[in-house]
Amino acid sequence: MTAQYQLHGDIAVITLNNPPVNGLGLATRQGIADGLAQANAEPAARAIVITGAGKAFSGGADIKEFGSPKAMQEPNLLSVIAAIEKSSKPVVAAIHSVVMGGGLELALGCHYRVAAPGTSVALPEVKLGLLPGAGGTQRLPRALGVEPALNMIVSGEPIKSEMLAMLPGQKLFDKMAASAETLLDEAMNYARSVADVRPMPLVRDLPCRHPQGDAYFQFARNMVKGMSKNFPAPGKCVDAVQAATKGKFEAGMTTERELFINLMWTPESKALRHIFMAERAASKIPDVPADTPLRAINSVAVIGAGTMGGGISMNFLNAGIPVVMLEMKQDALDRGVATIRKNYESQVKKGKLKQDKYDQRMSLLSTTLSYDALTNADMVIEAVFEEIGVKEAVFKELDRVMKPGAILASNTSTLNVDAIADFTKRPQDVVGLHFFSPANVMRLLEVVRGAKTAKDVMATVMVIAKKIKKTAVVSGVCDGFIGNRMIEQYGRQGGFLLDEGCTPAQVDKAIEKFGFAMGPFRMGDLAGNDIGWAIRKRRSVERADMKYSKTADLLCEKGRFGQKTGAGWYDYVAGKRDAIPNAEVVQMIQDYRKAQGITPRKISDEEIVQRLVYSLVNEAARILEDGIASRASDIDMVYLMGYGFPIYRGGPMNYADQVGLFNVVQAMKRFAQNPLDDAKFWEPAPLLARLAAEGKTFNS
Ligand code: 3HC
Ligand code: NAI
Repeated sequence: MTAQYQLHGDIAVITLNNPPVNGLGLATRQGIADGLAQANAEPAARAIVITGAGKAFSGGADIKEFGSPKAMQEPNLLSVIAAIEKSSKPVVAAIHSVVMGGGLELALGCHYRVAAPGTSVALPEVKLGLLPGAGGTQRLPRALGVEPALNMIVSGEPIKSEMLAMLPGQKLFDKMAASAETLLDEAMNYARSVADVRPMPLVRDLPCRHPQGDAYFQFARNMVKGMSKNFPAPGKCVDAVQAATKGKFEAGMTTERELFINLMWTPESKALRHIFMAERAASKIPDVPADTPLRAINSVAVIGAGTMGGGISMNFLNAGIPVVMLEMKQDALDRGVATIRKNYESQVKKGKLKQDKYDQRMSLLSTTLSYDALTNADMVIEAVFEEIGVKEAVFKELDRVMKPGAILASNTSTLNVDAIADFTKRPQDVVGLHFFSPANVMRLLEVVRGAKTAKDVMATVMVIAKKIKKTAVVSGVCDGFIGNRMIEQYGRQGGFLLDEGCTPAQVDKAIEKFGFAMGPFRMGDLAGNDIGWAIRKRRSVERADMKYSKTADLLCEKGRFGQKTGAGWYDYVAGKRDAIPNAEVVQMIQDYRKAQGITPRKISDEEIVQRLVYSLVNEAARILEDGIASRASDIDMVYLMGYGFPIYRGGPMNYADQVGLFNVVQAMKRFAQNPLDDAKFWEPAPLLARLAAEGKTFNS
């Protein structure tokens, strides 16, 4: 049973019991409705208390049910709330831990609310591209006041119960309990004290207006528009709350319902709901049980205090975990520490970090030139030069000094993690932790699972990733792992587009209009074009048959490595990030075309976007087939968190699903006919071809 009924003397208690967060799925809704009916029919019961078992009152509607017939099946949430309002005996919500979305709407439907301190209160539907659909936009403004309610609804951010209880004139909480432990007793006593009060109060009967009327809503709408340009939901939240201030309660409810249903079908909401589930799925590894014992990680060593080593260290310092950094020379250590210090100082200056926190973080950092100082560390992360010989020397030293059971991680971006593991006598303890630059900012962490990596090492690093606020995605060992293996194909398409008639600015603009944070050429300039150049030189030996445009090599031969040299595909003014198109580069591309005998053609933005995005999708399908990624949604997370793929499109796989895999395959077949492109690459990956033929999707 996902909702239980119990009679405690003269009070009936209905306890939601649908772990993990008492989502209001069909069975739970039915349980509440049954409990209400039973309580109303029970002569001994004078009043009713609704509460939640475990770690929440309720996290809201069951997100997993969305889009399925169950979501709408009676009793739906609106009917349950209507039944509460019609109850002949007063209903008291006993709220603790988490009260969100439909959970808060349910509580707002009750006659009274008693809350424990420390409860997270939110209407977070906007984060799923929705608005509260069970009266939240109509009742919260009545209970809390229009402005605070609208702020909560538009931001979706949780606020602690004790803060809300302090708002003047608030009617959200009738009583604050002393603690979560005493909540139920206090709520039952409260229920007894109001058992005979008639008429019973209802939030819907409270007045709702804003002194500035429509002018306030116009102001709010303008603010919201500026902050959420690609998402329709925040603006609709304003509309719904405005409706609460006009006319009758029922009319406002009708407006809310219409807006809610329309939002439910938008691609933006589908994308955000997909991301919610994808993020949680990514933390689970199919063959690593949830109860795998973890290794304790209380201190960390970082080898190399360069660009990555510094950023990686900051993640652990931020989480309160001591870090010791090792370098070859004292001046490299000094530079590394100075960079970390500068980073934190700028946060203090901007008011983002308090001075005492800064002091505390810096006090957790120590440095050394000797491997013998690492013997106490529970985990070490290597971030030295990307050369296999250097990695070999480092891992042999680590194998010598690290205590048994310590986790040995490498931040390599291109080298074989299995080869690195085999430099040690404990390959089961070795794992890849591929951070993205800047490592203290970027949320993505690719966890590279070697052939011999132990399951408890995998389980431990996934938990540590969460602790340092990263979104971890597991990748198998292959060239480029998930993200860079795909980006290589995307980069190749960018090159072919130049060969065929585009300028770098045209390509970048088209894909940025699609929603990418940055087009491939601006991104190349930011990362450094020389990195790709070095990789291509290696490839020309290993994969000589791989066709690619030579324009990027020509650019590097001119020393145009990107922002760091002040010139790349674009020009840059020192200290600024603006990319200024360069006539010489455009001429260089034209000369190259001429030398190849290519007559340029006009290429549409649509073709640019399709070729770039579908190149990601096709390589991703191969990655899935090879077992490098375990689910399509993991690939979406990599691209959303690490590569600037537009959030509102839900990642490349979700986007392909929405376009329809049949249509994606048809487009690939067209691209394969282009003699200047790579017909072999555009052969749809077998998995993609099969799903398209069967009318299926990647994420189903
Ligand atoms: N429905 C179903 N499952 C839910 C859920 C929900 N509303 N909220 C969370 N879960 C599940 C998660 O999927 C996860 O499952 P898993 O263990 O199988 O992966 C589990 O609960 C734990 O979630 P978290 O890892 O996020 O746990 P935290 O303790 O960090 O956070 C939380 C708990 C604050 C409740 C957070 O999960 C959260 O913010 N959930 C979303 C709440 C939300 O958006 N509610 C609105 C739903 S829409 C709605 O109510 C529509 C209505 O207006 C009609
Ligand atoms: P970097 O050149 O900025 O820093 C490397 C540091 O390692 C230098 O300070 C150097 O003195 C130190 N070092 C070299 N050999 C050492 C040794 N034997 N013992 C101790 N210290 C040693 O390089 P960066 O960019 O930080 O890269 C480090 C690693 O991270 C590489 O494997 C790279 O592929 C990887 N990586 C880099 C990313 C980036 O964007 N820069 C992104 C993801 C991974």
